[in-house]
Amino acid sequence: MALSKTCASKIALSVSRTDPLPAHRFLPSGPLRGRIRVPGDKSISHRSIMFGALAVGETRVSGLLEGEDVMATAAAMRAMGANIEKHGEEWRINGVGVGGLLQPEQALDMGNSGTSTRLLMGLIAGHGISASFTGDASLSRRPMGRVIEPLSLMGASFEASPGGTLPLMMRGAHPAVPIEYRLPVASAQVKSAVLLAGLNTPGITTVIEPVPTRDHSERMLRGFGAELEVEEAGGAKGPERIIRIRGEAELRPQDVVVPGDPSSAAFFIVAALITEGSDLVIENVGLNPTRAGLIEVLRQMGGGIEELNPREVGGEPVADLRVKHSALRGIEVDPAIAPAMIDEFPVLFVAASLAEGTTTTSGLDELRVKESDRLTAMAEALALSGARVTEREDGLIIEGTAGAPLPGTSDEPVVTHLDHRIAMSMAVAGLASKDGVEVDDTSPIQTSFPNFIALLKEAAG
Ligand code: S3P
Repeated sequence: MALSKTCASKIALSVSRTDPLPAHRFLPSGPLRGRIRVPGDKSISHRSIMFGALAVGETRVSGLLEGEDVMATAAAMRAMGANIEKHGEEWRINGVGVGGLLQPEQALDMGNSGTSTRLLMGLIAGHGISASFTGDASLSRRPMGRVIEPLSLMGASFEASPGGTLPLMMRGAHPAVPIEYRLPVASAQVKSAVLLAGLNTPGITTVIEPVPTRDHSERMLRGFGAELEVEEAGGAKGPERIIRIRGEAELRPQDVVVPGDPSSAAFFIVAALITEGSDLVIENVGLNPTRAGLIEVLRQMGGGIEELNPREVGGEPVADLRVKHSALRGIEVDPAIAPAMIDEFPVLFVAASLAEGTTTTSGLDELRVKESDRLTAMAEALALSGARVTEREDGLIIEGTAGAPLPGTSDEPVVTHLDHRIAMSMAVAGLASKDGVEVDDTSPIQTSFPNFIALLKEAAG
């Protein structure tokens, strides 16, 4: 594949976020072949650092994602007393114990990371310490009211910027009050924030999830020795999950092996499906059912995705995925699957742009409050690249090209709005375009997938 050199060599190594915007033109590619591995799962990496920092003794983590978001979590946990170091390929975390977090001396800079912010707000809510949170322009627009509300019920207090955004200051409560909280939005971050506040709260804290979201917190908290139980119960609108955690927990250090991130694999899955002649194996991909919705949807569209060597890694289902170029058909995507692929819609929209016929998505209001408004950002970026897209309030409708390449961008680059997944999705669109797709700013890719461009070069030869 010919990657043009608007700012090339620097990107694969490291990009300081104060550099001028590293734009990049992603050109049409040859087939993607061979075997690759994507970096560790972002959600699991954040949690391994947080839970390790709350255990007494040494937690060892291998396969940790070393992206900016996870490093923001590590810096915050260090500022609250944990010792976190890298030895060879392994990360070692010496924790302070539940209840032992120290008050950070400076504001916690969360960069671009909503997961770090919301989960740490939960942790701090159950400790008698104060903290301030700051973030970049994208994070500073994102709603924090969804965690402020339940954490206030538990006794924490907050001073947020207008609209419940960062920068904000908070004071945790000790002891906090256990609550029973029904999630008003399907959000693993909100669920996790309440459970983490519950860790140092006397009694039982309960979260009711009307729609299941990723369950890494539940799996890992149990692994670290917390008393946590999950009950499936019949709710008014179908089965719901009731999660109970006993507070004043003692966490035991663990050896954590982080599987490959399915949300990062997603870009290579779609790239291989839409690029003629591709036959690519992506090794070691986490396939937790609460994360694997994209694979199901792409299969419904006719995508050839085979699971090889299914196994368990660190308590999570994992397989190697063999992906072959396939003729995709447009479908109506069932909104019920959205939580299991919430981060994968930008790249699904790219697949839909190359499919035969119409793909309709709905029920995606949450995409408007991610790192960017992903419905508008993708509608604009795809339209600029020559795709036929209609934006609705809660989804996109896309008329595919039946495999014909998208024209690509001409004078104007697509705008990523500080959103790593917009940048990587449009890089994939560039592979299946005639003239390439110019992306205005590739630096946000550092938050979740630092070697993305290098790996794309490797796979496309
Ligand atoms: C995450 C939960 C999801 C997801 C985010 C990571 C997590 O956010 O979009 O990338 O690790 O818990 P929401 O809880 O806002 O859906």
